[in-house]
Formats: sequence, structure tokens, C-alpha cells
Amino acid sequence: MSVQTAARERRVTVRDLLEMKRRGERIVVLTAYDVLFARLVDEVAEIVLVGDSLGQVFAGHDSTLPVTLDDMIYHARAVRRGVQHALLVVDMPFLTFRVSPEDTLRNAGRMVTESGAEAVKLEGGDADAALHVRALVRAGIPVMGHIGLTPQSVHVLGGYRVQGRATDDATRLKEDALRLQDAGAFAIVLELMPAALAEDVSRSLEIPTIGIGAGAHADGQVLVLPDVLGLNEGFRPRFLRTFANLADAARAGIAAYAAAVRSGEYPDAEHSFE
Ligand code: KIV
Repeated sequence: MSVQTAARERRVTVRDLLEMKRRGERIVVLTAYDVLFARLVDEVAEIVLVGDSLGQVFAGHDSTLPVTLDDMIYHARAVRRGVQHALLVVDMPFLTFRVSPEDTLRNAGRMVTESGAEAVKLEGGDADAALHVRALVRAGIPVMGHIGLTPQSVHVLGGYRVQGRATDDATRLKEDALRLQDAGAFAIVLELMPAALAEDVSRSLEIPTIGIGAGAHADGQVLVLPDVLGLNEGFRPRFLRTFANLADAARAGIAAYAAAVRSGEYPDAEHSFE
């Protein structure tokens, strides 16, 4: 029986993900921000990620930087109510980690105890980031790493650009990945990097990699759900394939409702009480 099938009958654990990598089974990850979509994603994914991408796709900001710890806890609690099987991972937002290991621990502790999530995700793979990852893992909080394009550092990186094209940068990213594994991370997101680099990093690690804009050879893939469903109109980076067109479906439903109200056709007798 595949690990996927076995894990569907109970909750997915970090050990299941390691086993999936060992067996060459691809890991499916999607984001969710509310209970309704969380239920749908939970039917198929091994990991549901409450990403701080909610700053953009839920709240309409132009980056993830304004997202707060309380925002993440609020959305994670909603998602928790819809997730029965997948591993629930929540992003630590900008400046809620790395300031001091004590703060990181306090904030991640709030995240897991107040939301019920199993794990947190932290951006960055340098020695400082690894220190914080190690502190959390020691305290019993599983951590997913995130390297390559780390959106919380968008202004330092000079935009949302592919990382690791220069040899030095590629070497540094590979070192970051190994360092995060050594610090106890159970998986690492590889965002926006050349496919060959993501393949090399994935082969060098025992823990699974989850790619986004990192080619076909990561151990799993993640996308932002509104992007996948065609709800985030106008956002069409090269790596993105939309698998549905919910914007048009929603637009048609909303227009039909408005027309029925305006014409008096809704509510009719069937939808009224005697
Ligand atoms: O915030 C997010 O949704 C993410 C994924 C894109 C990996 O970090």
C-alpha cells in the first residue's frame, strides 16, 4: 500500500513524508485560508499550508510583509476545522521569528497551541535561521524550511526573481538546504530556482523538498490555491498552470443572482416560507 493511501486513513505525519521521499512518491501540497477550501484540499493533499501568501490573495496587500501573527492564527484556526487527514503547516509571518530564539519559540508556540497546527514554516536557510529552526525542533515543534525566493525578503532580493542562477548563489542555497536539514527541518520549500539546482538540492537531502517554480524534480509541489483555481486573475508567472477557472464560474453565478433579484424572479414560492 502506498504511503499516500495509508496516511489517508489517519493523519499524515512528518515520518510519512520522509517515507514518501524514500519510495519516490510525489508529495502534494496546497495552501488554504478558510474552512471551505481546506475541506476540499484535505481530500487530496498530504500537506495543507496556511501560507502568509494570504496577505496578497486574501487581504489584497502587494506583499506578505503586513501579515501578523494574529492574522495567521485566525486563518489557521479556520483551516484546522476543515483538515482531518493532511499535515497542517502554518507560515510564521515577517519578523515573528529570527529576532531572538525566545521570541521565535513564544510565537511558534502560540501558533501551534492556539491554532492546532502540527508544524510551522520559516523562511531562510542561513546560520541564523538554522539556529531558530533548531530551537523550535528541540522544543517539539516540527519545522518546514523555505529557501530560494523568500517573499518576506522581497526588498532585500530586489523583487520576485529566480534565485540561484549564479554559481555562488547556487552553492549557497545548497548549503542552506543541508544546514536546515541538519537543524532538524522535516521538509524544505524550494521557491523560484533553476530546475537543475532544485534537482541537485533534492538529491542531496534525506528530507523531502517541495518545489514552487523549481521544476519537476523536487519531491513534491506546492501552489497557492487561488492561483491554481484561476481566482487570482492577472497573476500569470511562468511556473503557474491554472487547473480551473473559478473566477469566470463565480462571476457567472454572481451575475445570475443579481439578475434574478432585479427581475423579481428570486426568491420565488419554492424559496419562501408559508
Ligand atoms: O505563503 C505561501 O503560500 C508559501 C507557499 C507559496 C510556499 O510560502
